[in-house]
Order: sequence, then C-alpha cells, then structure tokens
Amino acid sequence: MNPLVFAALGYLLGSLPFAVIVSRAFGLADPRTFGSGNPGATNVLRTGNKLAALLTLLGDAAKGWLAMLLAGALGADAIGAAIAGVAAFLGHVFPIFLRFKGGKGVATALGVLIGIDGTMAALVAATWLTVAFVGRYSSLAAIAAACVAPTLALQKFGIGAISSAVLFMCLLLLWRHRSNIANLAAGTEGGIGRKKTSR
Ligand code: G3P
Repeated sequence: MNPLVFAALGYLLGSLPFAVIVSRAFGLADPRTFGSGNPGATNVLRTGNKLAALLTLLGDAAKGWLAMLLAGALGADAIGAAIAGVAAFLGHVFPIFLRFKGGKGVATALGVLIGIDGTMAALVAATWLTVAFVGRYSSLAAIAAACVAPTLALQKFGIGAISSAVLFMCLLLLWRHRSNIANLAAGTEGGIGRKKTSR
C-alpha cells in the first residue's frame, strides 16, 4: 500500500483533539481558553480534574501508537509505520478538526515512541517523570525528554529513517515549546497543577 495512505490515516487519527473532546465530555472549559491555551493534558490538569487530564494523556498517546499499529496491520514495514506515527504527531500539532491549531505533541510523540521501541519509550518517559518530579514543570520535563529521545534513537537505530523521524518530532516539539522556554527563562512558567501566570 502507498505510504501516503498510512500518512493520511495517521494524520486523521492524530487530529482527534482529546483535550477538547474529554473536556467537553466532563463539562470542563475548553483548554484553549485558559492557562497556556494549549489543548493538552497539562493544561486540562489546570482545571483540577486529574481524571480528565489522565484520559487526555492516554487518548493523545494512544493515537500515536494506534496509527502505527493500524499501518502495520495494513502491511506497512517499520518505516511505513513510522511515517504513520509522525503523521499522527503532525495531526495533533496541526489538527484539521481545530483549524490546524493543535497541541505541543508530547503525549502523541510518546505514543509514537512506544510504537517504535518500548525500551526507548520507557527511557524517555523516565526522563520526563524524573525532571517533572524534581523540577515541577511539565514543559521542562518535555524539553528534557525531547533532547534525550533522538540520542537514544541514534544509539539504537543508527543514522536512518527511524532516527530522522524521532529527531523531526523532537525538533518540532521543542519549537512548539518556545513560549514555555521564554516563560521558564522569565520565571513566569506555570508549574504542574499550578495556574499558568503567562502564555
Ligand atoms: O505537554 C505540554 C507541556 O509540555 C506544556 O504544557 O500547557 O504548560 O504549555 P503547557
């Protein structure tokens, strides 16, 4: 099957905005209207509803992983599946259902990493958890994890399509965190579970 089919399916799946869907289901405010304005689990957590935040995290991660699983079931090889995963990541960041204004891609990237290699994903998740636990900033944890992931990919897969896919996702993820980086530098970044003082 043409890789474009895997990419299209992945993109559509990735475009499902779980932060908005879950918030609506729980009767919460649209995450695009408060806090960082980011439709992601961290911002949903700012409502104080931990279950809604967890379901957002799981939904956004699952779509990255499922896109790869679906591509594999349709006959894609590892590279075809990675194309589907990256497309799901792009769908999350630029979703057709939200007029291309989506999230920062952390959970979806993790889902794609799970699809690529469980051990690599576990190490990246451990990095996120460690930095989040110590620093209390979700964005800082994501930035650290995004720096670790390409290094691990390169170690495991060498220079090639898979490492390039991981690097591409991480660079885009870092770019999507540019306002967080500015806020961290200015000391105005909202910590985990705390209200965001600045976008
Ligand atoms: O997963 C996104 C997180 O890294 C930052 O979220 O809402 O603080 O911009 P937020």
